[in-house]
Amino acid sequence: MAKQQVIVPDIGADAAEVIEWMVQVGDEIAVDDSLLVLESDKASMEVPSTLAGTVVELLVNIGDSLSEGAAIVLVETADAIEPAQIREEPPETNQAEAAGQSEAQEALAEAPNNQPVSAGKHSVLVPDIGTDDAVEVIELSVSVGDEVEEGDTLLVLESDKASMEIPSDASGRVLEIAVAVGASLKQGDLIGVLEVAGHVDTPPAPAQEPKQEAPPPAPAVPKSVSEQPKTAPVAKAPVARATASSSEVVYAGPAVRKLAREFSIPLEQVSGSGPRGRILKEDLHTFVQQRLSKPEAATVSVGAGIPAVPAADFSQFGSVREEALSKIGKVTAANMQRSWLNVPHVTQYDDADVTDLEAFRASLKDEAARKGTKLTPLPFLLKACAVGLKDNPKFNSSLSADGESIIYKEYVHIGFAVDTPAGLLVPVIRDVDKKGLWELAEEVLELAALARDKKLKPAQMQGACFTISSLGALGGKGFTPIVNAPEVGILGVSKSSVQPVWDGSSFVPRTMLPLSVSYDHRVINGADGGRFMNQVVALLSDIRRLTL
Ligand code: COA
Repeated sequence: MAKQQVIVPDIGADAAEVIEWMVQVGDEIAVDDSLLVLESDKASMEVPSTLAGTVVELLVNIGDSLSEGAAIVLVETADAIEPAQIREEPPETNQAEAAGQSEAQEALAEAPNNQPVSAGKHSVLVPDIGTDDAVEVIELSVSVGDEVEEGDTLLVLESDKASMEIPSDASGRVLEIAVAVGASLKQGDLIGVLEVAGHVDTPPAPAQEPKQEAPPPAPAVPKSVSEQPKTAPVAKAPVARATASSSEVVYAGPAVRKLAREFSIPLEQVSGSGPRGRILKEDLHTFVQQRLSKPEAATVSVGAGIPAVPAADFSQFGSVREEALSKIGKVTAANMQRSWLNVPHVTQYDDADVTDLEAFRASLKDEAARKGTKLTPLPFLLKACAVGLKDNPKFNSSLSADGESIIYKEYVHIGFAVDTPAGLLVPVIRDVDKKGLWELAEEVLELAALARDKKLKPAQMQGACFTISSLGALGGKGFTPIVNAPEVGILGVSKSSVQPVWDGSSFVPRTMLPLSVSYDHRVINGADGGRFMNQVVALLSDIRRLTL
């Protein structure tokens, strides 16, 4: 057992500030485990351990300014190595890496791009990035049309250990971006083309190029990133982002970026609690916890890779009034959006000849009044759909959450949309297949009244297999209803009207009811949809069939 110090290796800068500890006293660490994060004005970097053992003392504090050779931690190791050895002779890999870094920095500073420039167009190439391995583009910092200054960051590259911003080696307008996020690049690969204002000379030979005129060096990476990164420079030297950037400024180290990618966490939405807003691992944990604890139904998401609709200031066009959405309105919006984004919708349209149904309904008007109820087309529609659901079981099913199976329901509960001053509510009538028209008529009236009085209980809005949205009383010739997922089908009903219908020898006036059925195309194919619609149309056109 021996106690030894880990020291700061060559960090490519005179001094850098300790901004984050990644270990604490008592931690068991292995060689290459990151100990702390240092940050200079150009880069931040995780400093890995050169020793394996137990951390017995932290020798510096957050905010300390460290230079190469400063002792960071005291580690109790199994092997007896003289501490002096560690201090005086940094391991070979450190030296090799230090050499690699300075080579990389020099290469970058002295000969950023030897491409000739003609007719004002300048190709920007990947400079020496200190490794022969291809490194992935994780962020594009500019868009076509952007004006960039020499030294402005064009993109961010990241390997498994380090990330670096690649600066522009000229000033001008971005004409073309030749790479995309996810592409792998090596030294010399084309990044893009700039249109430079004046004539740009081919950069002179390295020896003649004054260093201060070169673009600021990208944070150096070890010669072989995958082999021995002792100082892993990380992305986001914030000062390098002088240009109008197409991406949000995100300030985080490679480990945090990697974790964020693994969990698909949009870093630009995470607020950093570290120094200068740096995103720490704990910030990712907090972000995920907050997302998980948010009531999903009440959130209108702008995620899922879909660009948000840009905010607009409408008041510049005239006076406006802003009113908060009701709770029901928010839930409906979230449900509709979720359904629209998740369910591949197909809608089929048809007209049912309800002439006889309407005559029958009219004949029952007095009886309905005596019973203290009202027989609208809705109970007939409920009944017809119940038969359709039983005969077309896919319409009476849901896709399992993992998308691996279909769950068929052996009950027939149907929801119907009710327009209330507070928003749309969908009460559910249970066992529609077992109920008669009068019973259904009464239940429709009762549930619609409860909905309008905001007295529906949650249980009265749950368990539907299918939904009917009837806008017939309002008018309209047709609309595309959105499936109320996890249900897989919904019937839209528009206003019936008398139409001339060809009966084979002449046009006759018939009352036609426009119907539209939307369904989840993952579960129901066009033929299934057609069969369901045909059956509902047939049942409404000849209501005697409802009794069969
Ligand atoms: N075509 C022609 N007339 C129709 C009709 C249709 N498809 N559907 C209903 N009507 C008539 C009714 O017969 C009634 O006329 P009457 O009084 O002369 O008999 C009148 O329109 C009003 O009917 P209503 O009281 O609305 O009853 P309903 O049973 O048709 O509908 C609700 C009940 C609760 C569904 C309905 O009031 C409602 O809220 N609809 C809105 C649904 C909605 O907003 N959907 C959109 C979801 S995005």
